[in-house]
Amino acid sequence: MTDIQVRSETNDDIRAIDVVNLSAFQGEAEARFVTNMRKSADFKPETSLVAEFNGRIVGHVLLTRVTMRKDSGDVSILLLGPMSVVPSQSHRGIGTELIKAALDKAKALHFGAVIVIGHPDYYKRAGFEAASKWNLRYSINVLDDAVTGMELIKGTLEGGGEVILPPDFASVIYG
Ligand SMILES: CC(C)(COP(=O)(O)OP(=O)(O)OC[C@H]1O[C@@H](n2cnc3c(N)ncnc32)[C@H](O)[C@@H]1OP(=O)(O)O)[C@@H](O)C(=O)NCCC(=O)NCCS
Repeated sequence: MTDIQVRSETNDDIRAIDVVNLSAFQGEAEARFVTNMRKSADFKPETSLVAEFNGRIVGHVLLTRVTMRKDSGDVSILLLGPMSVVPSQSHRGIGTELIKAALDKAKALHFGAVIVIGHPDYYKRAGFEAASKWNLRYSINVLDDAVTGMELIKGTLEGGGEVILPPDFASVIYG
């Protein structure tokens, strides 16, 4: 859709992103996670994407660099999420555009893989696969069935390993 534009966040977007996350999710955990990640030394505004529809911010997705400990050594991959679209604008393809833009960004930054925790059926529509096929483990308690992944560089997830998730992410999963 041509009237949906996805771009990286700027300082002027921070309040609007908060509103999007608070309106899309039941509680405040996701909005708090995004706010906390923004304060982390590792945060890069280019990996926090907003969707504008008719000039208003109606969607957001965060990409966070996480380490995957493989037998062959550590690799950096991306965790996609939280992702949110304001309820009044859902089913317009905004979420789909956010995922596409997030994958383009991940490729442009030369990451080899992206994983997502939650709503596996939704992400499978966008080409993600059940992460169980790669035998991943996680630093916090995560249901294997909830995780999907996509290799952007073939072999990145092969052989499995432990993904070190931000400790705060537990609040996003469990509220
Ligand atoms: C999930 C979400 C991001 C989808 O955004 P969206 O802009 O409506 O997505 P799209 O328009 O691209 O796609 C909508 C399709 O996805 C499907 N879909 C939405 N949520 C889904 C889910 N949890 N599981 C499977 N399919 C889902 C819908 O059936 C819909 O299909 P339809 O339009 O043919 O009925 C949005 O509904 C949202 O913010 N939800 C609350 C927060 C959330 O759960 N975020 C994702 C987890 S991090």
